[in-house]
Amino acid sequence: MNFDFNEEQLMIQQTARDFAQAEILPTVIERDKEAKFPTEIIKKLGELGFMGMMVSPKYDGTGMDTVSYVLAMIEIAKVDAAVAVIMSVNNSLVTTGLEKWGSDYIKETYLKPLARGEKLGAFALSEPEAGSDATHQQTSATQEGDYWVLNGIKNWITNGQSADYYLVMAQSDKEKRHKGITAFIVEKGTEGFEHGVKEDKLGIRSSDTCTLTFTNCKVPEKNIIGEVGKGFNFAMDTLNGGRYGIAAQAVGIAAGAFETAFKYANERKAFGTEIFNHQAIQFKLSEMATDLEAAKLLTLQAAALRDAKKPYIKEASMAKLFASKIAVQNSLEAIQIHGGYGYVREYHVERFLRDSKITEIYEGTSEIQKLVIARELQKELL
Ligand code: CAA
Repeated sequence: MNFDFNEEQLMIQQTARDFAQAEILPTVIERDKEAKFPTEIIKKLGELGFMGMMVSPKYDGTGMDTVSYVLAMIEIAKVDAAVAVIMSVNNSLVTTGLEKWGSDYIKETYLKPLARGEKLGAFALSEPEAGSDATHQQTSATQEGDYWVLNGIKNWITNGQSADYYLVMAQSDKEKRHKGITAFIVEKGTEGFEHGVKEDKLGIRSSDTCTLTFTNCKVPEKNIIGEVGKGFNFAMDTLNGGRYGIAAQAVGIAAGAFETAFKYANERKAFGTEIFNHQAIQFKLSEMATDLEAAKLLTLQAAALRDAKKPYIKEASMAKLFASKIAVQNSLEAIQIHGGYGYVREYHVERFLRDSKITEIYEGTSEIQKLVIARELQKELL
């Protein structure tokens, strides 16, 4: 597989890198500490065309390929994984899903402003009793004339407070299990729809995660994404795409941890020399760099397969599984290389560790990725 990036891909990477340094880095520690949503940063990302990167210009997206999206995500996550997840949800879970599955009405009404970055989206699949076991949806949808009435609770919803439009999966026919799940778009402010308080999280603190409650919430029939009963297919198909986004986020964290530790090791002196000159530190940095490279290649491979319109489900899950592990590992090693300094906010690496853990949990835990990989292997090899 050839990863000689073209001019456009390199330009996107550089733009994301410059933006992250100039606009995200200065406030990252404060936003993390205060769990403050990066409203202005997200607005500027929208203006740069980074909130609907893979959506075609016909629907006001930037029309970039998946490799460009991954390169941009890595640069943003290298500096702030919280900003990266907000961007990732809007790109890979919301806008690309709507372009593939939405009706003309949905594309005109909802996709366009989301792709322009003027509106923010959220993806609501998880429930208190349906996390990994996502077919077990309890939120119900009952038809009443031209409307569907939603009742139930969603939780762990990224962009839960700040989103304008929510993609909500609900059980429209209990008898049919996952074949009776339907996906809807619900607008913020719809009667009977409320969000809860922001969760007080270990990491990605400036992103907002919360519970959503639907109480006799009436949603127009025309807000159904795809067809009645196809909501689970929509969710799975969309999550397959989300997974290379989270893999890219994890690669960004692993890269941020490595680069910060590498710089520190070449500045910090102990025993009469820069600590880089001690073999113990060289071994750590070499392993971190090798793992990082492998995680990046797996992620780019999944993205390139998608761009080539080839199957990428297994590869996206492999990339997420491996990159998330490396994000945690590299963050831990970066702290160790920093010693006591690594344990305080100012040096960034403790945040990398806190932010890294969620990449092993959301958009399918590592255990779910293994399940997906095993099932794909069975299809391929038997
Ligand atoms: N791609 C496409 N379709 C898939 C699929 C995949 N990766 N995995 C399963 N499916 C389909 C199956 O083909 C089947 O459809 P048919 O019956 O039409 O053939 C259907 O889904 C149900 O599959 P199973 O019968 O195998 O059901 P299961 O319960 O054994 O397994 C599961 C399903 C794979 C475990 C699924 O529930 C799952 O992926 N769970 C994880 C959910 C998840 O990732 N949640 C993340 C929440 S979103 C989030 O975190 C966003 C955020 O805010 C950051």
